[in-house]
Amino acid sequence: MISFLMLLALTLAQPVAPESHWCYPSQAAKITCLEPSNWPGYCHGSRQSPINIITEKTILNSSLVPFTFTNYDEKKSRIIRNNGHTVEVELDDSIKISGGGLQDTYKAVAFHMHWSDFVDEGSEHTVDGKSYAMELHIVHIKEKFQSLSEALSGSDNDEIAVLGFLIKASPQNNSGFVNLVENLNDVKFQYYDSTLKQFSLFDLIPEADKLKGYYRYWGSLTTPQCEEKVVWTVFHERIPLHSSQIFEFSTSLYYNSEEEMEATMMPMIDNYRKTQPLGDRQVFTSGVGILLPQAWPMLLAPLLTYLLTLFLY
Ligand SMILES: *[C@@H]1O[C@H](CO)[C@@H](O)[C@H](O)[C@H]1NC(C)=O
Ligand SMILES: *[C@@H]1O[C@H](CO)[C@@H](O)[C@H](O)[C@H]1NC(C)=O
Ligand SMILES: [Zn+2]
Repeated sequence: MISFLMLLALTLAQPVAPESHWCYPSQAAKITCLEPSNWPGYCHGSRQSPINIITEKTILNSSLVPFTFTNYDEKKSRIIRNNGHTVEVELDDSIKISGGGLQDTYKAVAFHMHWSDFVDEGSEHTVDGKSYAMELHIVHIKEKFQSLSEALSGSDNDEIAVLGFLIKASPQNNSGFVNLVENLNDVKFQYYDSTLKQFSLFDLIPEADKLKGYYRYWGSLTTPQCEEKVVWTVFHERIPLHSSQIFEFSTSLYYNSEEEMEATMMPMIDNYRKTQPLGDRQVFTSGVGILLPQAWPMLLAPLLTYLLTLFLY
């Protein structure tokens, strides 16, 4: 009995975080929260995302045909929201993808981004060890589901399809992003939302013709509960964004609510997860857009050098 009371007293004496919530390391430096090593759910499983894609080890797969994008060109006013981890824009389910080697038609749920305050990190996926400034994720679920949470309770490893776009710093303004970037100041704090002027997804991403090249693997959500139910597509083509447009994300947005600002100011920076072990998984690549355009000059240069040498000596 005594030990029980002592235990009780000890338990009560612990400073209990009201709601121990998952967070990124940049938050854990300032408040008590669950950082990646303590993320709950399936986050310590063997088929996690993101990953480092080693292009030389990707397997060419002819079933990875081009996508059919439905209503990706639909101009519409949409709501942008700071959810305390990222900025998210809800999409209506008339937006769909099929083809792309997928077994099903998927409908859009939302898109969001990951970033840093440097232009050489911030993306979740890396390619041959290289990070990019940001990464855009367009999240889709199988058509038969009503919601993301319903899809997450499904039993297949492809209930969710995420299209991932690497965003690289560019000297050019990206006019397609001006609308979104201008609204970041209206969603500075957690749970703030704002209405974006009309735009389509194709204002943000490269035209369909440039999206025939992509990597494919099976992984997880990159935030808790990290459910391993995502069929991933990471496109070869990068989205160029001016570095001043990129920096608007890390300088305008905060993880915390406005009420919390006096106690803890947490700029929304480094809201990306580090790459996870590939394990026994394989990464596939579609045929188009890879190798040939880049490889020809690389093959030709040594050949010409060789021929020149023959002539000169
Ligand atoms: C291509 O990918 C499909 C799944 O989309 C798989 O069933 C098939 O075995 C793969 N082919 C090769 C050659 O890896
Ligand atoms: C980029 O576009 C924004 C908004 O239209 C403008 O304010 C800014 O000066 C432009 N920057 C460059 C480098 O063109
Ligand atoms: Zn994401």
